[in-house]
Amino acid sequence: MNEIATQVISGAAMRNETRKANKRPTISTNLPVTSLNQAPAWSSTLGFAYPATPVDHPVWQLQTPSLILSPKQAAANFKAIQQAFPYANVGYAMKSNPHPAILSALSQIDNAWFEVASKAEMEALKGLGIAGNRVFFSNPIKQMSHIKMAIEYGVRLFVFDSEAEVLKLAACAHLAGDEPLEVYVRMTVPHTGALWPLTHKFGVEARRAVTLLQMAQAYNLKPVGFAFHVGSQCTRPDTWAEALQTVAPAWKMAREAGIDVDMIDLGGGFPTRYTGPVPDANEVAAAVEAVLDECVPGVKRVFLEPGRGVCGSAGDMVLEVTGVAERPDGQTWLYLDGGFFSGLYEIPDGIRPSVQPIVREPRPLGMHTYRLAGPTCDSLDTLFEMRSPVELRLGDRLVFKSCGAYVYSVSSPFNGFDQPVVVTEDEWMMNIQQFAGIC
Ligand SMILES: Cc1ncc(COP(=O)(O)O)c(C=O)c1O
Repeated sequence: MNEIATQVISGAAMRNETRKANKRPTISTNLPVTSLNQAPAWSSTLGFAYPATPVDHPVWQLQTPSLILSPKQAAANFKAIQQAFPYANVGYAMKSNPHPAILSALSQIDNAWFEVASKAEMEALKGLGIAGNRVFFSNPIKQMSHIKMAIEYGVRLFVFDSEAEVLKLAACAHLAGDEPLEVYVRMTVPHTGALWPLTHKFGVEARRAVTLLQMAQAYNLKPVGFAFHVGSQCTRPDTWAEALQTVAPAWKMAREAGIDVDMIDLGGGFPTRYTGPVPDANEVAAAVEAVLDECVPGVKRVFLEPGRGVCGSAGDMVLEVTGVAERPDGQTWLYLDGGFFSGLYEIPDGIRPSVQPIVREPRPLGMHTYRLAGPTCDSLDTLFEMRSPVELRLGDRLVFKSCGAYVYSVSSPFNGFDQPVVVTEDEWMMNIQQFAGIC
């Protein structure tokens, strides 16, 4: 059993239980939507002041740490990728956020597929009534019990990149009856511009890829094509084009070897806007289209498996300041009730959300620098340096923007601290856009 996947799903179930236990009354508000983003006001006592957020504002009713999810935003992001690639089957990489509200919003979109890596992920989809023929299995290394479950569930498309995997898939193929198992091989490609390169762990080069497809054919699997992943948060559209150019010789060799390859899976990697502009799906599509026909002539099926690009901007995290300390290095540290182990584990690798302070009473404007840290005793649990336009004190809150991807799925109760409570926009009756970031 894939332990991480089990933790993800059981973590999700636990969080749902926590949420039920902590069920807060649904709060309806007539407060103006700008109440979190007022301009600094002049006061005779404070000078120009950073505005307080009123005590009856719903942001103060949230239990922290909270993760506010917007299934509508995830659906809009998914449709934007579909529109940019009208010829492709877009499959949501559910590892990025398997919350049922997100999965169910996406499942209602025409021709929405799902990319899975484990049995528990498939069980979550099955539980929501999503059919196995909308699912493809992109983990190159699969456990036998997961392969069996996938076939019984109706999955017929599997990635692989090793001989051992051919043997496992071939041993389970009879479970699909007369239907062939379609297999495609993961290639290693350049990852320039990606903050999370995924290249070293998986993938093979062209010659080996073709040998593996031939081996699959010899074992009565149906070899259909190639897959790659340019790395997560890839901000350089040309990297997808370079990846296709890397696949091109393998495509040619496979055809020459009599293998009827007809599909290419362009992976994920679509970036989310954190602190700066990023290319949108149309820019990636333009780079892909410029080389697609030349690199994979005669391709009939194109798949995509975006995760972050779908759910990244569909979640904001609300944390509270629980400690302030001056350290010998002269820095002021702010300790929050959520951090690295609450799911903000990508920060050390450069994925840094923008942050908006929310304060309890108006205070003079003035820049302050803080070192942010999470609540646990582990030294990994530090975040980043933040410049705040206002002094921050115990009980103030920080909204971390664009935390929809890999936070919910990865958070842990390490050291006994609460995982973020998930609230959807609809439950909260407020719109996620009200948390426009300013730092
Ligand atoms: C096989 C596979 N597909 C898709 C994804 C989603 O990637 P991203 O969130 O960068 O779009 C990942 C991420 O790890 C992955 O491993």
